[in-house]
Amino acid sequence: MEITIKTDSGDATSEVGRKLGSLISSNINHNKTALNKIAIALYGGLGAGKTTFVQGFARGLGVPENYYITSPTYNIINEYPATIPSNINNDSIINKNIGNQNIDTSKKQGKYLDTLTLYHLDLYRIGSPDELEYIGFDDVVASDKSVIIIEWADIIDSQHKNIIKFDIKIRIEIDHHFNRVISFIPYGLDSLNLLNQFAV
Ligand SMILES: Nc1ncnc2c1ncn2[C@@H]1O[C@H](COP(=O)(O)OP(=O)(O)O)[C@@H](O)[C@H]1O
Ligand SMILES: [Mg+2]
Repeated sequence: MEITIKTDSGDATSEVGRKLGSLISSNINHNKTALNKIAIALYGGLGAGKTTFVQGFARGLGVPENYYITSPTYNIINEYPATIPSNINNDSIINKNIGNQNIDTSKKQGKYLDTLTLYHLDLYRIGSPDELEYIGFDDVVASDKSVIIIEWADIIDSQHKNIIKFDIKIRIEIDHHFNRVISFIPYGLDSLNLLNQFAV
């Protein structure tokens, strides 16, 4: 199964990212057996729109507006907190570091919030998969309650593909009108169910 969406502007590419982010935000962690962490691979050449996609994705996921989502080309790993809705009725959860404003709102609405970490990676400057151990890649992969999204995931070749298991692979291509063709491939039933909601 593959879902394809075409966009005709940077804003539209970002909006598709936002949609996927918010879908993940409302599905992750609500069922402890499924989707308590997610890894996404982003493929596509320089200027395809990978970072633009992640900028929307981060907002949809619940990264607050005051965090500017920059390209991780030089840092390799950028990390952001995200606030997600929770259906777990537990006061200790809302006492976490999610900002006073959010706590107030959640109490008013009688809803609870949870947090997760968004790891945004760009492996463009990684010469070989062997270098991944020096950037703390293993820790990112092992982290709990996280969403990992990786630009230039191509560097993880077939010999090293067991170092991370991607739930969704996304490819962005530029067509001859300079529109972007964004394709999503799910791996596993949970991702398939998620993307099926995305398609409607
Ligand atoms: N559908 C589109 N049509 C035209 N321009 C787009 C589209 N999607 C994204 N862009 C633009 O393409 C550029 C992509 O840059 P960026 O997201 O940094 O690419 P990458 O991270 O893949 O190198 C941005 O200027 C963005 O606004
Ligand atoms: Mg980029």
